[in-house]
Amino acid sequence: MTIRTVLRMGDSRLLQVAKKVNTFNTPELDGLIQDMRDTMAALNGAGLAAPQIGIDQQVVIFGVEYNPRYPEAETVPFTVLINPVLTPLTKKMEEDWEGCLSVPGMRGMVPRYTRLRYRGVDQYGNTIDRSVDGFHARVVQHECDHLHGILYPMRITDFRKFGFTAVLFPGQEVMDE
Ligand code: NI
Repeated sequence: MTIRTVLRMGDSRLLQVAKKVNTFNTPELDGLIQDMRDTMAALNGAGLAAPQIGIDQQVVIFGVEYNPRYPEAETVPFTVLINPVLTPLTKKMEEDWEGCLSVPGMRGMVPRYTRLRYRGVDQYGNTIDRSVDGFHARVVQHECDHLHGILYPMRITDFRKFGFTAVLFPGQEVMDE
């Protein structure tokens, strides 16, 4: 169990375009994914991208289990997604609040496509090809943005809807991506 340090906004490594993964089913890749899982779980995150722990590779993980404390929250199956390609299935975008483990303590209102297809592979090289909507689509867009050096504040269009979580949502626990 290794909880890695998550880089924070301002670190230039978060602004790079990550490299494609070419070899699968290796101890190195399994170790990276295990560290990412441990880190995401320890920080109560909904997702994590490899560049956030300083690894310059196109690897993201995400997933939200049912939690009785947030019965209204949409669940997302735990997914390891490597070398992802996203294709919007609509021009429609919706705004909703996002947070990020690299921007701790803050939330912002971010427009995202409401439906998209994503393709890629898992850590064994098996194909992943899904069409999703809602929160699942939002989380995928947020995580894959990390692979292109994009942090959610760069997507905010109205900075009046950007602030400290404790001020915006006093007394509430929220997840970060
Ligand atoms: Ni993030």
